[in-house]
Amino acid sequence: MTDVSSKGPQPNDERPVLTNRQGHPVYDNQNQRTVGARGPATLENYQFLEKISHFDRERIPERVVHARGITTYGYFEATGYLGDEPIGRYTRAVPFSEPGKRTDVAVRFSTVIGGRDSSESARDPRGFAVKFYTEHGNWDLVGNNLAVFFIRDAIKFSDVIHALKPDPVTFRQEPRRIFDFMSQTPECMHMLVNLFSPRGIPSDYRHMQGFGVNTYKWVNERGETHLVKYHWMPKQGVRSMTAADAAIVQGRDLGHATKDLQDAIDRGDHPEWELLVQIMSDDEHPELDFDPLDDTKVWPEDRFPAMPVGRMVLDSNVANFFAENEQISFGTGVLIDGLDFSDDKMLVGRTFSYSDTQRYRVGPNYLQLPVNHAKNAQVRTNQRDGLMTYHVDGQGENPHVNYEPSITGGLREAEYPVNDEQGPVISGRLTRKRIPRTNDYAQAGERYLLMEQWERDDLVLNFTTLLAQCDRPVQERMVWHLLLVEDDLGLRVGAGLGIGPEDVAHLEPLASQDLTDEDRDRLSKLG
Ligand code: HEM
Repeated sequence: MTDVSSKGPQPNDERPVLTNRQGHPVYDNQNQRTVGARGPATLENYQFLEKISHFDRERIPERVVHARGITTYGYFEATGYLGDEPIGRYTRAVPFSEPGKRTDVAVRFSTVIGGRDSSESARDPRGFAVKFYTEHGNWDLVGNNLAVFFIRDAIKFSDVIHALKPDPVTFRQEPRRIFDFMSQTPECMHMLVNLFSPRGIPSDYRHMQGFGVNTYKWVNERGETHLVKYHWMPKQGVRSMTAADAAIVQGRDLGHATKDLQDAIDRGDHPEWELLVQIMSDDEHPELDFDPLDDTKVWPEDRFPAMPVGRMVLDSNVANFFAENEQISFGTGVLIDGLDFSDDKMLVGRTFSYSDTQRYRVGPNYLQLPVNHAKNAQVRTNQRDGLMTYHVDGQGENPHVNYEPSITGGLREAEYPVNDEQGPVISGRLTRKRIPRTNDYAQAGERYLLMEQWERDDLVLNFTTLLAQCDRPVQERMVWHLLLVEDDLGLRVGAGLGIGPEDVAHLEPLASQDLTDEDRDRLSKLG
């Protein structure tokens, strides 16, 4: 091979010239400046010091969760209707407003627990985060591939994540730590029944669903609100892997899902998802056996049908992984007019956490980066300066006025939307209480009964294999929970561990839980 570098610039070389970040041409990219060919280096060697010190700073903290992922781009296209009705009856949010209306999107798929270079075939929820670049500013819908979550109160998030992440001493993910936490957290049973079934390892990102999980609100022109849940359904179908399938895939490639998605887009096989919503009136719904603001629950589709509102197509890959995937920043607080929060206690906590971590992880001006910038809306703020300021946000006619109010120029407040009264009137005492109607087991049991036989067998196998590595009190408590979820599940997992119902009948309910009449009935039959 010819050593081009040693020859220096060639007379007819038309390629652009290498420069440093100041725009100075680089004449020698092979040798530092030294005193003589063998002498000491000099400190004024600006080009070398700039190059190496930038390299020293190439890494930023990886995301504390969802570190491994991949971003792609495409568009969302609205149906303009909810069932037979124009969608404006339910929301005035602009991406849904007209049939055929298209909005640019960026989507990042991810795994949750592993680090930036970890395996994409791990048993783990998958992130499904969508950024809509609307003309009213950005809207982020930050979801997962499973419809429910482990916990219902954000105060427990760092605990559940610590239990799932590697042991702080050995740095190994340990079933005994995971199930120690889960066995004391009955609300996670619904999530566990999903996560340890084949759905816990999607075949790849193109063949998985997405769910908003938390309950949001829609606001219409009259200011009326409805509770809403979002669901993405892949046109490609849903495919999952057993642990044995995943072991083979992982042996070949740790990043198979990224490759599958990027290759499909490159060959023009653009993946597509339908967006469906479930809505209910904005109240407590005392007739239900669960709280509509509880993210460990799904809304029964026979009563709250999932209705299509649009489709999303992904048709291009990132040009630079770091700029567009590592620095993209999603958050549940990023909503536009016509969309709102509910009082879901997870959603409120998430809404603080995302932008908080992004100011630390990416920097205080993360919203000036092209991938995060509200590119289809006007951004005009009086926020100035800070680390890595890239430009001055849009401003009023007088650039000296970076404050408000002012009579000499600057920016003014927008008029409130015509109807901004949203939702029911709520009053109550400040307190720390779990919500009523926790009903931790019923939907987990229904999910188990809906599974095909091979999925149930896989679930039992996965639970048994991992619980076998746990301490006996943890095993007993987990069998106790699973018997309350569904007899067949508890009996089968118990049999695999040598634990019968009679061995767990002495266990009292946990202080952190409320039992339903049906739960008590099941408990009374254990002994
Ligand atoms: C990422 C917090 C629950 C979906 C993150 C990040 C944090 C976080 C700090 C890293 C963000 C970044 O570095 O840019 C929380 C908290 C939760 C919670 C405090 C509960 C209180 C959930 C739930 C879902 C979810 C229930 C699914 C509905 C995601 C996704 C990402 C993410 C998809 C990755 C976003 C991306 O691709 O950049 N979360 N999370 N999280 N979270 Fe959550």
